[in-house]
Amino acid sequence: MTFENMTLTEIESWLREKDPARLELLWAAADGARKAHVGEAVHLRGLIEVSSHCCRLCGYCGLRADNHGLERYRMTRDEILNCAREAREFGYGTVVMQAGEDYGLTREFIADIIRAIKEETGLAVTLSLGERPDEDFIAWRAAGADRYLLRFETSDPRLYAMIHPPGPGRTMSDRLAMLERLRGFGYEIGSGVMVGIPGQSYGMLARDIDTFRNMDLDMIGVGPYISHPATPLGSEETGEGASPTLLPGEQVPNSELMTYKTVALTRLARPDANIPSTTALATLNLAQGRELGLQRGANIVMPNLTPPEYRKLYEIYPAKACIAETGRECHTCMGARIRCLGRELGRGPGGRKRQG
Ligand code: 5AD
Ligand code: FES
Repeated sequence: MTFENMTLTEIESWLREKDPARLELLWAAADGARKAHVGEAVHLRGLIEVSSHCCRLCGYCGLRADNHGLERYRMTRDEILNCAREAREFGYGTVVMQAGEDYGLTREFIADIIRAIKEETGLAVTLSLGERPDEDFIAWRAAGADRYLLRFETSDPRLYAMIHPPGPGRTMSDRLAMLERLRGFGYEIGSGVMVGIPGQSYGMLARDIDTFRNMDLDMIGVGPYISHPATPLGSEETGEGASPTLLPGEQVPNSELMTYKTVALTRLARPDANIPSTTALATLNLAQGRELGLQRGANIVMPNLTPPEYRKLYEIYPAKACIAETGRECHTCMGARIRCLGRELGRGPGGRKRQG
């Protein structure tokens, strides 16, 4: 089987592949494509989880508005700037400001911080702040933001609608359309999906990968769905055959192996994209998950710069991987892991180098 221009059926059959010898071929093809198209450098993006407030009710996410068991925080301008200074000191090219959909982070507050980070550090600024109005996206781009991350989570409209109730006073969101608008405003755009969402079939996940191929994304993040007990989805069983809406054998497991397959097929579908080896993947295998992701298609890691007192409150899913307390510890650990693989640490902003 060739890996180029895979059909949907071929993608799906790779997702179902169990033979270890055949999977070795998939890992090798993905690693080869990564090397040929984005090289040996592993780029580091410093993650700053700027607020855990959220007005939305995503069915899987621990930050959802009605999780009243969670203490919420919002970082100050100075705290955020200090993290960006640390990122520069550690040699990262990019900071990622991520939060729930929090309108306490006003358009002007974020614009001011973007300007300050750009002026003081010159780092690339990536935003991951949810489904905001276009006026916010435009203002932040004008302030100097470079990239926007918004995972579409699943390309299946019915599953999407089941787990993403509309925001207050709004209609069902269309993240694919929002991503296209973001691109129009001048951002590099990133998206991605979760692997093994209850109700996600092999066919749906194959279509997610096909959607990556058709969308010309700059960044693609895929990680396993991890059940959170304080969410509607987390109180359902996950795994094979668990969803009442799917036939037996159709449910994608939220496993480590399935995530590697998805990372590898994503690399083959979009050879020149920036693909992170995600924290959610590392959560399933603390010792090796991040490394195996980097050897099966990924070329990015996102060390966490969030101050320790906030980090433990940013509980999208339970037991997030990272034994480090501080940004400095996380930095040292990631650097050592990357060097162990014989890969280089990326320098500079690490934007996408378009090919073809
Ligand atoms: N398990 C795994 N990933 C999750 N995310 C949110 N909740 C979970 C969960 N329970 C992911 C979503 C979101 C990203 C920031 O975190 O894909 O886009
Ligand atoms: Fe808002 Fe997860 S539901 S960040």
